[in-house]
Amino acid sequence: MSRFDQKAKEWDGSERRRELALSIAETIIKNVPLSKEMHLLDFGAGTGLMTKYLTPLVKNITALDFSSEMLKKLEENAKTWGGAKVSMVHSDILKYESETQFDGIVSSMSMHHIEDLEVLFQKFSTLLRADGFIAIADLDKEDGSFHDDGNEGVHHYGFEQALLTKLAEENGFRDVTFIEAYTFEKENNRNYPVFLMRAYI
Ligand SMILES: C[S@@+](CC[C@H](N)C(=O)[O-])C[C@H]1O[C@@H](n2cnc3c(N)ncnc32)[C@H](O)[C@@H]1O
Repeated sequence: MSRFDQKAKEWDGSERRRELALSIAETIIKNVPLSKEMHLLDFGAGTGLMTKYLTPLVKNITALDFSSEMLKKLEENAKTWGGAKVSMVHSDILKYESETQFDGIVSSMSMHHIEDLEVLFQKFSTLLRADGFIAIADLDKEDGSFHDDGNEGVHHYGFEQALLTKLAEENGFRDVTFIEAYTFEKENNRNYPVFLMRAYI
């Protein structure tokens, strides 16, 4: 069982996680023109904490995660989202193949768990239609102290925005913009800012 399978049952119990997911969803809604014709991919959707705020604004969301337990919880949660159109995909994002060309890819706090960012950005570019967007939220560069329960499965201690811009542009993205989405204030008296990276292909 993976780290996330083990955490799935108690994942939604954290007030701070729920607050973060809401803040990221609000930042996406404010900065990306969503429409009822759109089919989005939420990668690393987890239990759907962020997904649920976007479902009323688009046609369909494919929620992808490699943790079957997180997806089980998402399926249970989605029953309370008023008939929202959500389909679940159990897959590693790097291995995911789809016939659908998505209008946009959204994500909340999952990119730092992906080791090979070059392959990730290539994958984003193949999954999107022309003029599609990415709206990816994650941590600014940190020193490894963000995760209270250790860094197993954490491949990046946050990100330098310049590195992400380079990876995006090398893979065909344009108009790369970073927007402040949230700041974690932790008991260790440190602040961990979270960005929303938006770009178009
Ligand atoms: C920190 S959680 C975020 C969950 C959710 N987006 C949220 O905001 O509550 C990261 C999620 O990414 C998933 N994940 C990590 N690596 C993945 C991969 N390679 N492919 C698909 N999902 C992955 C984990 O299973 C987990 O559900």
